[in-house]
Amino acid sequence: MSAAEPQPQPVLVTGGTGTTGRRVADRLLAAGRRVRVASRHPHPGHPHLVAGHEAARFDWTDPATHAPALDGVRRIYLVPPVGASDPAASMLPFLDQARRAGAERVVLLGSSAIAETDGGLGEVYRAIRERFPQWAVLRPSWFMQNFTGDHVHAQSVREHGEIVTATGDGRVAFIDADDIADVAARALTDERPHNAAHLITGPEALSYADVAATLTRVTGRTVRHRAVSREAMRDRLAGSGVPEQFADLLAGMDEAIAGGAEDRTSDVVERVTGHAPRSFTDLAAAHWRA
Ligand SMILES: NC(=O)c1ccc[n+]([C@@H]2O[C@H](COP(=O)([O-])OP(=O)(O)OC[C@H]3O[C@@H](n4cnc5c(N)ncnc54)[C@H](OP(=O)(O)O)[C@@H]3O)[C@@H](O)[C@H]2O)c1
Repeated sequence: MSAAEPQPQPVLVTGGTGTTGRRVADRLLAAGRRVRVASRHPHPGHPHLVAGHEAARFDWTDPATHAPALDGVRRIYLVPPVGASDPAASMLPFLDQARRAGAERVVLLGSSAIAETDGGLGEVYRAIRERFPQWAVLRPSWFMQNFTGDHVHAQSVREHGEIVTATGDGRVAFIDADDIADVAARALTDERPHNAAHLITGPEALSYADVAATLTRVTGRTVRHRAVSREAMRDRLAGSGVPEQFADLLAGMDEAIAGGAEDRTSDVVERVTGHAPRSFTDLAAAHWRA
């Protein structure tokens, strides 16, 4: 079946109103696929539900919503329950149910910070590889979109002219969510399944001080990086409403960055999509230039 022909079965996109999910849904729709966007609030007032997308009520915490969302589905873009300390607890039963319902291909949004040998989401990586004949695990680096919109870093830049992290001088190859969605769309629609874990990064590893310098150049206002301890970072995140265990996990990831864990780039965007990943300077100019 060619990419342009409509598929008889919808592709289910969980987190389909979120940062990557809505971009994936748009790409699938543009490629002529039927898309079922899963959302806790699948009504027309939702700011990120786009006309043309079929919508299903879906809540990780409400298993009664899972079977109707999976009805007739063969392919799934899977975004884990955001902020869950034990994502496998709800995802593994969902994956079993999806397989029984006839799903064949799953493309999971994972993270560069989580490997297959890890617990938690690492267990979900393994389950997808073992249970589905067609699969891909996307392991993107940190999103460039963390510095746009309502994200905590973007707010801090706007309100205080600073980015606060426990990453020290550590570097991260930030990635544009559009590039992640391009890779995801290929993994979902390519005739040959990828059956691979993709480490997805932007074109260059940057420290948060580098990011601050770019935002300073682009906005014309001084933006600095304030490095804090892991404990201070955890408390700051928890104070802003992030659940305590998740705040601790995120602060631990900052510490890993400080130790160099994310100082790497990959060629996956170019190899899978045929185009180079977007640079942070380019994205920042598009979003922040007055
Ligand atoms: N930010 C980064 O730098 C980064 C880096 C690597 C990986 N990631 C991964 O990206 C994922 C999401 O990132 P994000 O922060 O940008 O979130 P997001 O995708 O923008 O938003 C969360 C999505 O989850 C849905 N959702 C929330 N609670 C739900 C529930 N109980 N049941 C079903 N759906 C629910 C929301 O939909 P409704 O509100 O419509 O229900 C929304 O579409 C995480 O798994 C994270 O590990 C992030």
